[in-house]
Amino acid sequence: PQANIGVVGMAVMGSNLARNLASREGNTVAIFNRSYEKTQTVLDEHPEAGFVPASNYEEFAASLQKPRAAIIMVQAGRGTDAVIDELVKVFEPGDIIVDGGNALFTDTIRREKAVRETGINFVGAGISGGEEGALNGPSIMPGGSDESWVTLGPILESIAAVAEGEPCVTHVGHDGAGHFVKMIHNGIEYVDMQLIGEAYDLIRRGTGKSPAEIADIFAEWNTGELESYLIEITAEVLRQNDAETGKPLVDVILDAAGAKGTGAWTVQTALDLGIPVSGIAEAVFARSLSSKPAQRAGASSLPGPSTTVSVDDEAAFIEDVRRALYASKIIAYSQGFDAIVAGAEQYGWDIKKGDIAKIWRAGCIIRAQFLNRISDAYEEDSSLVALVLAPYFRDAVEGAQEAWRRVVVHAVQAGIPTPAFSSSLAYYDGIRADRLPAALIQGQRDFFGAHTYKRIDKDGTFHTLWSGDRSEISAVDTH
Ligand code: 6PG
Repeated sequence: PQANIGVVGMAVMGSNLARNLASREGNTVAIFNRSYEKTQTVLDEHPEAGFVPASNYEEFAASLQKPRAAIIMVQAGRGTDAVIDELVKVFEPGDIIVDGGNALFTDTIRREKAVRETGINFVGAGISGGEEGALNGPSIMPGGSDESWVTLGPILESIAAVAEGEPCVTHVGHDGAGHFVKMIHNGIEYVDMQLIGEAYDLIRRGTGKSPAEIADIFAEWNTGELESYLIEITAEVLRQNDAETGKPLVDVILDAAGAKGTGAWTVQTALDLGIPVSGIAEAVFARSLSSKPAQRAGASSLPGPSTTVSVDDEAAFIEDVRRALYASKIIAYSQGFDAIVAGAEQYGWDIKKGDIAKIWRAGCIIRAQFLNRISDAYEEDSSLVALVLAPYFRDAVEGAQEAWRRVVVHAVQAGIPTPAFSSSLAYYDGIRADRLPAALIQGQRDFFGAHTYKRIDKDGTFHTLWSGDRSEISAVDTH
């Protein structure tokens, strides 16, 4: 056996990850694909990689040093289970099977449990950064056992992106913790993208600037506190002209956003955990709304505002949008980290929030300067009750909130949909409120269902005899 790591699945992500592994000192990479043709193509195109090819699972296992370690890079879902079944047959106790796809973390928990019975380690690892990241350095979020991390850690560290000298990989936690954190990453990716989309729409409709001019604005923003990969590529996309029509490409792309499901998973999971990831939810729903052409065509005759609101001071408006974007982004991350905390508690994972922020600093889609501030915040106070309360973020939101409110008012008056901007602001005003109308909701619940309520002035659980004399009685807490 010559290889210290194997990759199963030679589609673009798999072959790029294999090439990345092969390019690092000390690694020899075994490769396998269900059809050998693809393996052959990869071998032909990348002789420099020194791949050790296998034409069946037995050969693949035989080419790997013990404890064997193999990363599965196939379409998430049933394909993953099929590959795991085959690997379990040819691997031995102590070996490591890694799933590098976007698996649902509960599937990872199930798989880990099943594979563990054989004595083999199963590691669900979230890998972010797309095709380019896989090739040059992704951000990696592995779960699984401590035992597997001993072998896997150095290998993953060798291929991960590097942020300020540190590899963007950490042992996130046991079983499904890695895929859970990758899922939250994707949820944040959704809201980041939606917020950028809303900022673009506000500026375009508010100032009439062209996509190329707005590209310059994003490029400028990318030199400040918003500096991030998504802002950077936004400028690139907006600057692109369509070869066929000469129009801005963004004007000829059908405005129906796709989704492969990880954003929806984040929201479904957060609903179960009772965590308001409202920004992510709005981002997912905004994609759903965009992708209903018949409904949108039917609704296009609905009236908008009867008076037009204009932007008097363009520069001031654009600066307001920038600040609103930053404040909304802080809320999005604050909510995302709340979901991580709740997931860790629910599933018994010891997740270090500051370390997650650190491994998101480079390689992944949401990589940004901003993540340094998050890791600083958790380093200073790991028990922060909400990220937005960290001094740096509190100041940032304080400095942005007036602009944020003006932008949301403008959007409402101009009839521009800004679900992510608006819901983030509503969340902000919600968590900082002294009193919420939840008291009234408790009263209603008690009225129609005797669901009981607590009082602000004494302990206990109470019920009002709504259909009787309306006196209050002590009650058993039924929630
Ligand atoms: C990443 C991306 C990656 C993929 C998304 C796209 O971290 O590299 O998140 O996982 O591009 O799954 O998701 P949608 O197709 O749902 O937008």
